[in-house]
Amino acid sequence: MPGTAPVAFITGASSGIGAEFARRLAARQYSLVLVARRKERLEQLAGELRAAGAAHAEILATDLATDAGLEAAEDRIRREPNLELLINNAGFGTRGFFHEADGPTQERMHRLHVLATARLTHAALGGMVARRRGGIINVSSVAAFNATPSNVSYCATKAWMNRFTEGLALELSTIGSPVKVQALCPGFTRTEFHEVLGIGHDFIGPGWWMSAGDVVAASLDGLAKGKVIVIPGLRYKILVLLSRLTPGFIQKAAILRYARRTGRLPGASQ
Ligand SMILES: NC(=O)c1ccc[n+]([C@@H]2O[C@H](COP(=O)([O-])OP(=O)(O)OC[C@H]3O[C@@H](n4cnc5c(N)ncnc54)[C@H](OP(=O)(O)O)[C@@H]3O)[C@@H](O)[C@H]2O)c1
Repeated sequence: MPGTAPVAFITGASSGIGAEFARRLAARQYSLVLVARRKERLEQLAGELRAAGAAHAEILATDLATDAGLEAAEDRIRREPNLELLINNAGFGTRGFFHEADGPTQERMHRLHVLATARLTHAALGGMVARRRGGIINVSSVAAFNATPSNVSYCATKAWMNRFTEGLALELSTIGSPVKVQALCPGFTRTEFHEVLGIGHDFIGPGWWMSAGDVVAASLDGLAKGKVIVIPGLRYKILVLLSRLTPGFIQKAAILRYARRTGRLPGASQ
């Protein structure tokens, strides 16, 4: 990438939270590498960012759930001397009980949320530690804090992201590294996520929805403060705190009630 501007490498940049990270970081004079499968959407965003004065916006259209796609992304990261931020944001959800779900789709989720996050972090972190600068944001979810029926792989892979990030933070602290890591744990956010899932935005009340802008603002603010786990929005902070303080049997009843109300269990009132 030309110049000496700090570079942000953003996966899942073709829509939603990833595109919002791109817009906000471009406004902070970052050069961008925008990664997702939909090339046209990435080209459109790169054009918009250049027109708005971005230092540099490059696209990498690739499927991070495949070996070849992941290798291309790793290679691009390793060749970047000015890498300042890696944002592991690409992700998707599914519905249905695990034993009935489509096996290859479940595998793709694990490849994208777990394998891609681990490998891209590995490709980025050594250089950041050596340069004594940089940060990695892993876009997890409030779903990381509880297991929910009909969402088993999603909750499990996001829980992995949180624990992975906490482990990295611990390691970095022991070597006195200024490199920052964060697990960003949003609640319901208005993006294309629920359309891709095929359920729209009406299954839960409007008060639960956040904007991608608010989520990204909380993340960047948290990164500046060195917060390892960032939960945007007071409502979700309270929810996670309550779930940590609540006895298991009450938690289970509340989760099953939520799952019924949101159509994740039979007898649903969507
Ligand atoms: N929206 C929510 O309520 C919510 C809540 C908590 C956490 N999150 C997390 O936030 C992250 C971003 O989601 P979003 O809400 O912004 O949803 P979104 O608008 O659907 O964006 C998902 C992004 O991931 C990319 N992607 C999906 N599969 C990919 C693959 N195999 N390879 C490369 N890129 C891939 C998509 O691009 P292409 O289709 O072009 O590849 C898209 O850019 C996800 O990790 C999600 O789990 C979302």
